[in-house]
Amino acid sequence: MNIRTNTCGELNSKSIDKSVILNGWVNTVRLHGQVVFVDLRDRYGKTQIVFNSDNYTGEFEEVKKLSMEDVISVSGKVQKRTEGAINTEMFTGEIEVIINKMEILNEADPLPFVISDRTSAEEDLRLKYRYLELRTGELQQNLNIRHKTYQAVRNYLSGENFLEVETPVLMKSTPEGARDYLVPSRIHEGKFYALPQSPQIYKQILMIAGYDRYFQIVKCFRDEDLRADRQPEFTQIDIEMSFVDEEIIFNQMEILTTKVFKEVINVELPKKFPRLEWDEAMDLYGSDKPDLRYEMLLQDVKPFTDKSEFNAFKSAEIVKGLVVLGGAKYTRKMIDDLTDYVKKYKAKGLAWIKVEDGALCGGISKFFNKELQNELIANLKLKNNDIIFMIGDNKELTQLALGALRVEIARIEDLAKTDVFKPVWVTDFPMFEFDDNSNRYVARHHPFTAPSTNDISELESDPASLKSRGYDLTMNGYEIAGGSIRNHKPDFQAKIFDLLGMDEKETKAKFGFLIEALKYGTPPHGGIAFGFDRLVMLLAGTKNIRDVIAFPKTTSASSLMDEAPNSVSDAQLSELNISIIPNKE
Ligand code: AMO
Repeated sequence: MNIRTNTCGELNSKSIDKSVILNGWVNTVRLHGQVVFVDLRDRYGKTQIVFNSDNYTGEFEEVKKLSMEDVISVSGKVQKRTEGAINTEMFTGEIEVIINKMEILNEADPLPFVISDRTSAEEDLRLKYRYLELRTGELQQNLNIRHKTYQAVRNYLSGENFLEVETPVLMKSTPEGARDYLVPSRIHEGKFYALPQSPQIYKQILMIAGYDRYFQIVKCFRDEDLRADRQPEFTQIDIEMSFVDEEIIFNQMEILTTKVFKEVINVELPKKFPRLEWDEAMDLYGSDKPDLRYEMLLQDVKPFTDKSEFNAFKSAEIVKGLVVLGGAKYTRKMIDDLTDYVKKYKAKGLAWIKVEDGALCGGISKFFNKELQNELIANLKLKNNDIIFMIGDNKELTQLALGALRVEIARIEDLAKTDVFKPVWVTDFPMFEFDDNSNRYVARHHPFTAPSTNDISELESDPASLKSRGYDLTMNGYEIAGGSIRNHKPDFQAKIFDLLGMDEKETKAKFGFLIEALKYGTPPHGGIAFGFDRLVMLLAGTKNIRDVIAFPKTTSASSLMDEAPNSVSDAQLSELNISIIPNKE
């Protein structure tokens, strides 16, 4: 093979008359009788190469048979394109290379889909042939952004004295909320390692060990239901710091985030990020990851519905309304679709009223007398052609359902622009959440998060109303990072395990090593982890996490290209002392 002298994105008018060798993929072929034009492509760009039977030294029939994605090596001379053929959009658009020699390095079979157009094939087919999809400009661009993000993060953190330390991938199963991926041990019969859901405990132990500023760009594994922004294996920028409080962490993370946005996509984020307490976020946006790119706040309408003749809301704990400017255009069908949409969030229905000619009309307006109508119009600042949607139920359900509707309407109305970025910290989360399934409290962040009180007795008296020192960094409706100040006192940590329904024996078996370690000089510490893939999704302007991961899994956690997971041989199973129970219900 003749080794390339240049990449396909490199030659321009300065290269005219140079003899060059290019290696690359055939992007397009145009036959013009005894002249064949080929766009040769690699990840740096495309170059037009020209085979003219007059000066081509090889077998011209071979040139005519070139097809898309063949890999070739060509030698030739750079020349200026004729005036009409100049393409000012392309870096190489002023030149072409007249080829005298070619070697076909690999002939490509007919392609399963048109790789210049990702939409030409279903995602499953593209994932099966991921190597072809990775040749598309869009995915190349995303992986480029991902690369730049790694570098920006490492540069900044390393410059700030954070030490990059790797932590084990085979660890003890210490469930953090999701289900663990387990790895059977061959040597220890019947025992398992777990893949880390995050390096949480290791990074805390590194603080105990005196490494006061740690970071790692690390793979995490969670066997949970997948969504458009969730993968079973994903990457975190994991960070921990000693002798800090929330303010120090927020400040450092704001600088990190602004640097990444500036360096990677040249976007200026605000120097300080706004903050919302969790209660406020739920109340105003119906979400703990509010999208601040648009207003549409949830409004309290119970004072009005209580005075109306509409009885369905009378017993509701709260009634919230969402005003959509210009929403009176929504047809019956659209409103029915939106009603079905909120039902997914367990809402029993979706009440609505339109505003036309200064008066309320349609939906449940007939239950409001004139005076009440005017009161509602004035208080909610309703304008002609608006629509107000209302849900009344218990607090959590109402907030979440209307919050979801807010996001759906923003999608329909195209209010959420992908080039606008609105970071916001969400703080003061409830410490515990009651889990009806297991009939016990579970930690809202994770069990290592400190409560907002230093008084251990307060912990016991009313766990449900306790707030934690956890925080999330959210942006455009995504949780991009989450963290907390930790319990650095062993008795406090033990008490929290106790409140989470773990008895001493269970605590010792699962977390004894951590409680023990906390006894040997533990500095106050806290940290955070960014969902690296989510951050890259935002930077790349995509809503699909698979678009920013080279080899992602499907929503059913399989890899269609290499067909993981797969069955293994009986010999492998027997070595691990494992037998499969068939057809388990
Ligand atoms: P948490 O569980 O909040 O915190 O995770 C941190 C961030 O990781 C991202 N993330 C995911 N991204 C893709 N796919 C998933 N399945 C997935 N799950 C989480 C989110 C989230 O904000 N150890 C703590 C951090 C700490 O307390 O320091 C932790 O893992 O963007």
